[in-house]
Amino acid sequence: MGLPQPSDKATLSFDDGTPPLEIPIYRGTVGPDVLDIRALYSKTGKFTYDPGFLSTASCNSTITYIDGDKGELLYRGYPIEQLATRCDFLEVCHLLLFGELPDEKQKADFVKRVTNHTMVHEQMQFFLRGFRRDAHPMAVMTGLVGAMSAFYPDSMNLNDPWQREVSAIRLIAKLPTLTAMAYKYTVGQPLIYPRNDLSYTGNFMRMMFAVPAEEYKVNDVLVRALDRIFILHADHEQNASTSTVRLCASSGTNPFAAIAAGVACLWGPAHGGANEAALNMLYDIQKNGGVERIGEFIAKVKDKNSSVRLMGFGHRVYKNYDPRAKLMRETCHEVLGELGLQDDPLFKLAMALEKIALEDDYFVSRKLYPNVDFYSGIVQKAIGIPVPLFTAVFALARTVGWIAQLNEMIADPEYKIGRPRQLYVGSTQRDVKPIGQR
Ligand code: SDX
Repeated sequence: MGLPQPSDKATLSFDDGTPPLEIPIYRGTVGPDVLDIRALYSKTGKFTYDPGFLSTASCNSTITYIDGDKGELLYRGYPIEQLATRCDFLEVCHLLLFGELPDEKQKADFVKRVTNHTMVHEQMQFFLRGFRRDAHPMAVMTGLVGAMSAFYPDSMNLNDPWQREVSAIRLIAKLPTLTAMAYKYTVGQPLIYPRNDLSYTGNFMRMMFAVPAEEYKVNDVLVRALDRIFILHADHEQNASTSTVRLCASSGTNPFAAIAAGVACLWGPAHGGANEAALNMLYDIQKNGGVERIGEFIAKVKDKNSSVRLMGFGHRVYKNYDPRAKLMRETCHEVLGELGLQDDPLFKLAMALEKIALEDDYFVSRKLYPNVDFYSGIVQKAIGIPVPLFTAVFALARTVGWIAQLNEMIADPEYKIGRPRQLYVGSTQRDVKPIGQR
């Protein structure tokens, strides 16, 4: 890891008399080159300006690579299509955290470590009880994950590799338990403790849907589908929530606080909240006439004066089909088939909407394709996960990616606290007048 040798250089020349500046260019193993502008301010007194980070690389990384034009996604070099069909989620967690897929023994050890950390401190259920029963699960999750720093003080030091690893295992292991607790609390059912004889995802399904009154039978097809959903959501380069985690951790705060910041950012409808918003959009279209009225909805989306967006479509990086959306659509078919819901009206509506959008010049010209969130809500709903919990499931899966990215930053000897600057366009200095003269 770390920066390669400069592959080339650029010369920045100014017409205001500032001397030209030579800028090193670095080439990665794949993907766009970067211009190293770290000396720009000290040498020229000027900043770059890129508020949405459209042209800014915030770090160098070896974890995930996205080719937006080709619609390709690699975790540590492995294509998402292969990982989603040949591995399970804990193997992918091992890959993201340690850089390699585990062999049999490494997998057994890793699964055992995670399994033995799935219970949460008994006091956390009393913390949970402070929330209203109708609180949004993401409000609860932001609180519970942040609260972990009040329950696990022995793994808070980010600069201690062992404490970083322990907190990583605790977060990966306990997110399913906390997510299920958040759900059970909102539906007024008893909390279900984890079981060590179940798989990671089977355990989550049981904690979500079991009740003390009867035995819960794990449905392997649904478990496999949900495990694949976790894999598809595990990491995604420097997206908004991952950048939030990196910036938060760069202050040296503890890993639980940094991951809680990621949970809070993911909640937004432009980001991880899009899966909930996409399903609610499908419900609204269905309520207002269904497939026959899709044209009217699309017209609203194209109307600049309406703030209506086709949720689950578009992406900052993918200007082609999101490979995760393709895999999610296949998973949809599998799950709906298993449940005898092939004629699920929402799925048919989603496919009709996708077909119309992909033929409409508004979307084609803007390279707007379905993203991971377009189908994930339909699959999760079919599995039985309630709509308000979709983003919490996304956070559960993305926790390993956030941790891997955080660890990579902390392990980089060059990392500093993140502190962007600004273009100031406000008032120049002025004096305070007594209130009677204002
Ligand atoms: C995730 O970054 C990641 O990697 C995120 C993620 C991950 O795994 O971490 O992939 C997960 O967050 C997926 C994205 C989920 N969000 C949505 O589905 C919400 C709907 N999509 C958008 O709001 C939007 O597409 C974004 C936020 C995803 C991307 O926005 P950009 O890159 O800032 O693009 P933009 O808003 O500048 O849009 C460019 C044009 C605009 O039109 P014009 O002004 O050029 O005329 O496309 C239009 C936008 O109005 N547009 C849409 C649209 N998305 C963009 N128009 C209608 N519907 C949409 N969904």
